[in-house]
Amino acid sequence: HTTTRPRISFLGCGYLGATYAICFAELGYEVIGYDVDAAKIDLFSSGTVPFHEPGLPELLKKNLESGRVRFTTDIQAVADFADVHFICVGTPQRKGEHGADLSYIEAAVTDLSKHLSRKVLIVGKSTVPVGTASWVQELVDRHAPEGLGAEVGWSPEFLQESNAMHDVLRPNRVVYASQSEWASGLLKDVHRGIMELAAVEDREVPVVETDLATAELVKVAANAFLSTKISFINAMADLCEVAGGDVTDLARAIGYDQRIGNKFLRAGIGFGGGCLPKDIRALSARAGELGVGESFRFLDEVDHLNSRRRTHTVRAVADLAGRASGPNGPDLSGLRIAYLGATFKPDTDDIRDSPALAIARKLRAARADVVVYDPEGLDNAHAFAPELSYVKTLAEAVDGADVVCAMVPWEEFRTLDPEALGQQVSQRRILDGMNAFDPEQWTAHGWSYKGI
Ligand code: UGA
Repeated sequence: HTTTRPRISFLGCGYLGATYAICFAELGYEVIGYDVDAAKIDLFSSGTVPFHEPGLPELLKKNLESGRVRFTTDIQAVADFADVHFICVGTPQRKGEHGADLSYIEAAVTDLSKHLSRKVLIVGKSTVPVGTASWVQELVDRHAPEGLGAEVGWSPEFLQESNAMHDVLRPNRVVYASQSEWASGLLKDVHRGIMELAAVEDREVPVVETDLATAELVKVAANAFLSTKISFINAMADLCEVAGGDVTDLARAIGYDQRIGNKFLRAGIGFGGGCLPKDIRALSARAGELGVGESFRFLDEVDHLNSRRRTHTVRAVADLAGRASGPNGPDLSGLRIAYLGATFKPDTDDIRDSPALAIARKLRAARADVVVYDPEGLDNAHAFAPELSYVKTLAEAVDGADVVCAMVPWEEFRTLDPEALGQQVSQRRILDGMNAFDPEQWTAHGWSYKGI
């Protein structure tokens, strides 16, 4: 290790902060993870990751043993320990509004500032409305001991759940902003571990060093662009459906153009998760506050288009089951649905804003008997949507089903065998919300197949 490894804290041990803390310990930094939730801190300290993220538990255990990472609820210990503090707390959507709730940032920064006794760098990583960094600097100036000169920087993250470790250790770019040479040097030191790993693996990691406002905007711009791509392809899916086209072929064909790219063009039940939906709403709301709301009306439509996927999918299930839709939607009473998938995407247990779960609830509201199976998301789904039935195996879910809805492309669902599955159900009808199956293969085994 080089000698220029600053000591780092991560405030907030959710998906973001915890993954960063563990990965930075792996990169050779001395790290401390902080959270106000004592139960969560106890779990991390004893080697348990309280959410599903592939590979992370192993890396946690390894680095607890190395002694490079520890977890605490003691803000004084954090303030004493670290040279650089990363703010990784949540910025959820405000209740009943589209803007972001910054109260967790305010609490973390205020608390930390009060306990500081030397000049440090405080770097925002949470996704925030543009302008937040300057406000955070004001908070620090107000609450830190006088004359300390603690500075605020910003460095957005781009990690995807289920691929989080890879995205932190091997990011496709690093973006940061600072207000001085001193802070810029520290940020360079903080990212040295990532650069050294890249050099060993003969990769390049581009760095964009910029101003605070741009660093804040980069994150929401990226998520808005990704959301737009998905809603775009879902709009094309609607058109393909009425015109008799195949949206999967279409996406493949346009994706070969490198200006377009082939990623994030999978049509389906729409995007969800703890980030994209709330981030586009917050971006649009912030643009409105700053007087350029009109330029972001398209983003509201991206959001609406995404919600319409949900009603559209309910109608598709009704069609498949031969149930007519009235003005209030279809009546699905007596229909037993094997519902495969509850999380917002595969390889996570996260159900935040999950399209699959939202559609399951709509089907239940239409009086269907919805039996849900998910490899990792059952506990979270059950707590959030108790009105649905949950089973612990795929076999129990499909047993005697009138319709199978395969909604989240978990490996276990993508590899389903039409003949074996056909033996277990009552009616061979499948809604492929994942757009993962070959329709001809399923119809050859006597299934009524509906994709997106
Ligand atoms: C997203 C971004 O991809 C990350 O880059 C970003 O750092 C993160 O939000 C964040 O803001 O923290 P994540 O929420 O983990 O990551 O989920 P994604 O993998 O982006 O998937 C989002 C949703 O889009 C899922 O519901 C997924 O099923 C859906 N999706 C994705 C599609 O419907 N079609 C696609 O082609 C791709």
